[in-house]
Formats: sequence, C-alpha cells, structure tokens
Amino acid sequence: MCGIVGFVTHKSVMKKLMMGLQTLEYRGYDSAGVAIMQNNQIITRKAVGKLVNLANSLQLAPLDSNIAIGHTRWATHGGATENNAHPHVSSSVVVVHNGIIENFACLRDELEEQGFKFKSQTDTEVISHLIQFYYDQSQKTCSDRLKSLQQSFNRLKGAFAVVVCFSDAPTEMFAFARGSPLSFGVRNTQSQDQKVQNEYYIASDPLAFSQWVEQMCHLSDNQILHICQGPDTDSYDLYDMSLSKIQVKLEQNSLSDQFVNKGSFAHFMLKEINEQPRAILDTLAHVMSLIDQRKESLDQYFNKARETQLNLIACGTSYHACLVAKYFFEKYARISTTAELASEFLYRSPVLKGNYCFVSQSGETRDTIAAHDMVSNQYQTMAIVNVPTSQLARKANIVLTTQAGPEIGVASTKAFTSQLVVYLALCMSQISDVQTKNSFKQQLTIAATTLGEYLQFHTTEIQQLAQHLSKYKSMTYLGRGASFPIALEGALKLKEICYIHAEGYAAGELKHGPIALIDEQMPVVVFVSEENLEKIMSNVQEVLARNGKCIVVLNQACRELFDESYSSKASRINSQMESPILDQLQKLSFLVTPKVGEVGDLFFQSVVLQMLAYYTALELGVDVDQPRNLAKCVTVE
Ligand code: AGP
Ligand code: GLU
Repeated sequence: MCGIVGFVTHKSVMKKLMMGLQTLEYRGYDSAGVAIMQNNQIITRKAVGKLVNLANSLQLAPLDSNIAIGHTRWATHGGATENNAHPHVSSSVVVVHNGIIENFACLRDELEEQGFKFKSQTDTEVISHLIQFYYDQSQKTCSDRLKSLQQSFNRLKGAFAVVVCFSDAPTEMFAFARGSPLSFGVRNTQSQDQKVQNEYYIASDPLAFSQWVEQMCHLSDNQILHICQGPDTDSYDLYDMSLSKIQVKLEQNSLSDQFVNKGSFAHFMLKEINEQPRAILDTLAHVMSLIDQRKESLDQYFNKARETQLNLIACGTSYHACLVAKYFFEKYARISTTAELASEFLYRSPVLKGNYCFVSQSGETRDTIAAHDMVSNQYQTMAIVNVPTSQLARKANIVLTTQAGPEIGVASTKAFTSQLVVYLALCMSQISDVQTKNSFKQQLTIAATTLGEYLQFHTTEIQQLAQHLSKYKSMTYLGRGASFPIALEGALKLKEICYIHAEGYAAGELKHGPIALIDEQMPVVVFVSEENLEKIMSNVQEVLARNGKCIVVLNQACRELFDESYSSKASRINSQMESPILDQLQKLSFLVTPKVGEVGDLFFQSVVLQMLAYYTALELGVDVDQPRNLAKCVTVE
C-alpha cells in the first residue's frame, strides 16, 4: 500500500526516484507525486492515476535535483485527486506519508484555529502544518528541525511512516516510522577529488532502492532518521523519541539479486502462477530442514498448543491458508486449532490461550502485525512470511519463511501455495503415524513435480471456460473440508481481479440460504475432494436441478467414480452433460486434475482457481497485476 521514496545523492536523482516509485507500483496506488527543493522553495508535481501520467508531466516540464522525495498514494482520507496526492506542503515543510493519522480531525481544527489553510482532504496535511507550527516557534536551526519533528510525532496517533524535508535546509532529509515499514539504504561513493560522497535512500519497501545500495536497515518504531549532506562529508543519524542518538545497525544488502521482471510472461500473476512448482519444492526443502534444526523449540511450541490451542491468524488469502491448516492440524495432528481474521481478533476481546501463529506474504499487513503485538508479550509467536526482512519476521519468536520469492501481482498465488506447504510440513512434524507423514511428503513432491505439466496442457481448456465465465455478473464457489477454504480463495480471486461478484460457501451450507440464488445466470464452481465425494455430488445435483451451471473441479479418480455412480442421474437432469464447451457454458463441465491425494489435490485446485480468475480477467480487460482499489501490502487498519 502506498510507496514512499526519498533519495539523497550527489547527482541528478529524478530518474532513479521514478524508477524507485515504479518498483513500488505493485503495492497499489491511485495517484503519485514528487517534490524537490530549489532556491529555498518547495516544488511539487503530482498526477492522478498511473505513474506514467506523472512521468509524462515530468517529461514535458522536467524537475531536477540531487535530493528528492516521491510518493504513490493509496487514498484513505479524501478521493484520488491531484489536490489530495502527496507530497503535502506547509510553507517550508514538505511531507510524504503512508498510513493513517487517527486524530487528524481534532488536529486539523486546532491548526485551522492557528490560521493554517488546508488545501486537501487528507489526514496527511495535518502533519506538514503541525511540523510547520512547531518549527515556526523556533530559531529554525538543525536541532530545531529535529525538535519540531519530535513534538509533532508525539501528537500524532496511528500507524504511519513519513519522509520530511524543509525548504530552508535543502541538503537534509528526515524520516520517521511508527507501525509502518520504512527502510534505509546506503551506497558509498567517492568523488573525483576522493571525497566520500555517500548516497542515501529511504523507501517504504527496500526493493525500491536495493539495486543501488550496499547496506541497509529497517527503521524501528518511533525512530527519527536524519540525513545531512555536508560540504565535506555526508552523515546520517538515528534518534529515539527523546532525541538521544541510537546506533544505526546497517546490514549487507541481500536483496540486490531480487530485482524482478515479468520475463516472457504477459503479467506477473501468470509468471507467479507458473513459478509454483519451483516455489513449492523450494519451500518444502527449506522448511523441512528448518524443522530438523529447530526441532526442540518447535516441539515445545506445539506441545503447548496441543495442551491448549493453536491459533492461526491472518488476513485475506493468508487467512485461507490458515483455514486449510486448521483442517489438517485437527484431523491428523489432533491439535485443537482456530483460524481467525486478524481484523476481527483485534477487536473482539478474545479469551487468549495456547500459542499463536501469524501468516503474511508481505509481513507488513497492519491488522496482522497489530494482532501479533496484542499477544506477543504473553505468548510465544510464530510467523510464516514470504519477506524475510519484514516487520512480522523481525517481531515473531519463531520465523518460517516461504521460498516463493518476491510476489508482485496483487493477487496472491505462489505465496498461498507456499504457505500451505509450510503448514503441511509443520503438521507433518506433529503426526506420529509414519505412513501418514510419508504420504504427506510424497503428495507434496508429486504435486510440485506434476503441476507444471498440468499448467502446460490445461491452459486452453481453462481459457475457454473463462471466456464464458466473463459474461456472468455473479458466481458461487463451493467446497467441503479442506476444499472449503479453496472455494473462499476462488471467490476472492474472482472479486479481486475480475470485479465479478463471487461468494465462497461450504457446500453443505448451500441449502441453508444461498441456494435461493441459483439459476441459469449463476455459475457454480465446485471443488470436489475424494473424502466427501458423495456429499458434494449431491450438492452438484441440487444446483443442476435448479438450472444452475456447474463447473466441477475433481481428480481423475473422482471423475471415473462420477461416471460409474452419478452420470445416469445427472444426465436425466442434463441431457447435454458430456458435450464439449461450445459457444455457451454447459450445465455441467469438468476440470479434471491428476489424482494425487487429499494433500496434493489441493494444489491443483488452487492452480485451477487462479487460472480461472486470471483468464477471466484477461477477457474482461482488467489490469491483472494492479486491479482497481487494491494494494499489495495493506499497511492501514
Ligand atoms: C490476496 O490475493 C490479496 N491481495 C489479499 O487478500 C492478501 O492476501 C491480504 O491482504 C493479506 O496480505 P499478506 O499475506 O501480505 O498479509
Ligand atoms: N492517509 C493518507 C492519504 O489518504 C496516506 C495514504 C497512503 O498510505 O497512501 O493521503
């Protein structure tokens, strides 16, 4: 969500700044802007919509500076307009901001009373005016700038990150983070006369500058970073909220090879769907070896959970991975497990017990981090993350990283299946029956090694189906057992990237309400698991009997059983049952996956739901990687 960049160099920086913002585009935004300081003046340039609009404006009338800040905004307060786009300026203060200022309304009243005129509807504008307010009361020295920031940040409530510059100190830059990510990178360079001339980079995601820096660190909560370009030497200092200096602990940049592109794929999402065989195998190998290395601490963690409860907490797709995990932890490891949405857990005064596991692709999701912080004082926490440098990874007691690699498409794909792998490997480590354990591992390996082939040979079939689905306004996804969360995930994907209304239901719930919606205008995608084939086939019949259209996703063995046991009944209802998909969606269509088993089949179901959404979105002409209104990394509550 939103991108912040602030670069301090000795060369013209605008090109790099725009490249940095481009790297952050995947996080989701609706407008963008930059600011530089020139002749003690702040100059901003903003544009609504994609970054290319800002780039075009800069091409027509270039801005140039060695020091600049930039922003991609994901609107929370005030529409996506040029006025509301960042940077926001008070007379000599300019700010880019990520997050929400929860007490902005009363601060705004107070500042208006002091004579400040607001030009936008954003909460951000209170930051620039508040800093200005305190700065105006000082001698305007360097330490006054720090002091005015300290005074302002003390008054702001919420989780946020900012980069701030002052027009009367154009060689300085300040940054501050509280509950929102901000990273700092350093590149050591020398001028021709051998002077050390460092380059400093600040961004809400280190990917925005990782290609240029040697060292980096992540700001902790309530730290103020001050960068200063001097005539002889450049410097940076980190302060706590009492303005005492803190040691900056820079680490070698390990992200330099993570610069990602789409390769030969049309979209990041398609590339990431196709990367799943590799991601699953890498994650399995990595997590199995971690489980071996940390056997003692993991056993302790799960023993405590076994005595009381295992609590899995996440948002969105990561939450769906928790729902799948709950099913396996209970069925096979016999550990009482809850799966819960972080945003609900936070505000329902839950009875806390057992151990807690938080799952997040980004490791920066605000709700998930806040839920973690709510229990971390009293309980052991585990985190499953895809970004090893993320806040959640830095906070949790036990950290397991999925090896999916950077996920850029807003719709999570390879991160989801990699989360499933971690959960299934953890579950395996808690199963005493050796045969079951081996079968889990075998199925995971078979799934990973055969998924690629499936993707290669079944794309056309799914594309054809997607062509038909794109004509509908609403869809239902059904599943039972571990396939129920897969149905939820299918519906989420369709909403996210196709803008088609979709609901995921436990198939057994159909008759308790949603069946009222079934007619020929409501395609139903059914994920069949072998364990409850009969029950779910009855649900298919219920849909067909009401003129609904079913797309049944099932493995080869279930397909054969269907022919033996159900086809005559079905064909009475649907005479066209076996006809190929022609110019309209048939009453009953099948997507047949290889038979791997209870664990392995879930990966095929996942890939099918992802491909269905992807190709339907293509039909509809949606910007698949950056669908409207969404952010890859949701850093606000
Ligand atoms: C997934 O397709 C979504 N974009 C979204 O639901 C996402 O899973 C959710 O925001 C949680 O993100 P996280 O895994 O980074 O915490
Ligand atoms: N709350 C701010 C706004 O609406 C910042 C949003 C963001 O994080 O991009 O402008």
